[in-house]
Amino acid sequence: MKQPNTLRHLAVIMDGNGRWANERGLKRTKGHEEGAERVRDITTYCALHPTIESLTLYAFSTENWKRPKMEVDFLMRLLDRYLTNEIPVYMEHNVRLEVIGDIDRFSKKLQKTIAKVKGTTANNTSLTQVLALNYGSRDEIIRAVNRVIDAGEAVTEESLGAALDTPYVDADLLVRTSGEQRLSNYLLWQLSYAEFIFTDTLWPDFKPDELETLIDQYEGRERRFGGI
Ligand code: IPE
Ligand code: IPE
Ligand code: MG
Repeated sequence: MKQPNTLRHLAVIMDGNGRWANERGLKRTKGHEEGAERVRDITTYCALHPTIESLTLYAFSTENWKRPKMEVDFLMRLLDRYLTNEIPVYMEHNVRLEVIGDIDRFSKKLQKTIAKVKGTTANNTSLTQVLALNYGSRDEIIRAVNRVIDAGEAVTEESLGAALDTPYVDADLLVRTSGEQRLSNYLLWQLSYAEFIFTDTLWPDFKPDELETLIDQYEGRERRFGGI
């Protein structure tokens, strides 16, 4: 009998916070607040999962600066508050924080918070939670190519993969919530051979129970990697 696929790296596009709030007659910012609660639940689930090593979450894209300043400012403050309050949770569940994306554009205060949480959690080993912040896949790849060129190396799959914001780990499964079926400039390199699952559930409604069902689906798929 076929062995189930092992899930090591789960990538998620957390989408639908605004629509979740609109449906309830609330401000979009309420949706983001509720969404932050799901980040905690899903991260905890993944930390306890026997095979998941990395969870990469799309939290703010290079395109999200197009949103009204008020919403962007809110998201920045929410991120700062979330990370600051989350340290005990990261420690309790043995989760390490990593970041991909170009955070130079963030305020010095937020950059300091990120550095602090990364430092505090650096030795945790159950799960690496990778937050994609001011992240765009094209931006990441261009920065990586320039790093390789600046180092005087040949551009190969290995050198480019190693020059990405986190050393390249293949994503096994991509989940996008909210019914949209697109990548929105997310992990183009890392998702090359991932399985994709799109769910209509809006991110603030996405619970560990549903993730478990989606992981079962993933485990039963046939991954051929170009072979037969
Ligand atoms: C995802 O939810 C969160 C971010 C992109 C920061 P959205 O804010 O995109 O919610 P919708 O897609 O408008 O419902
Ligand atoms: C992708 O969602 C970015 C994040 C989830 C952070 P968007 O809502 O920004 O993407 P589009 O605009 O629907 O492609
Ligand atoms: Mg959206």
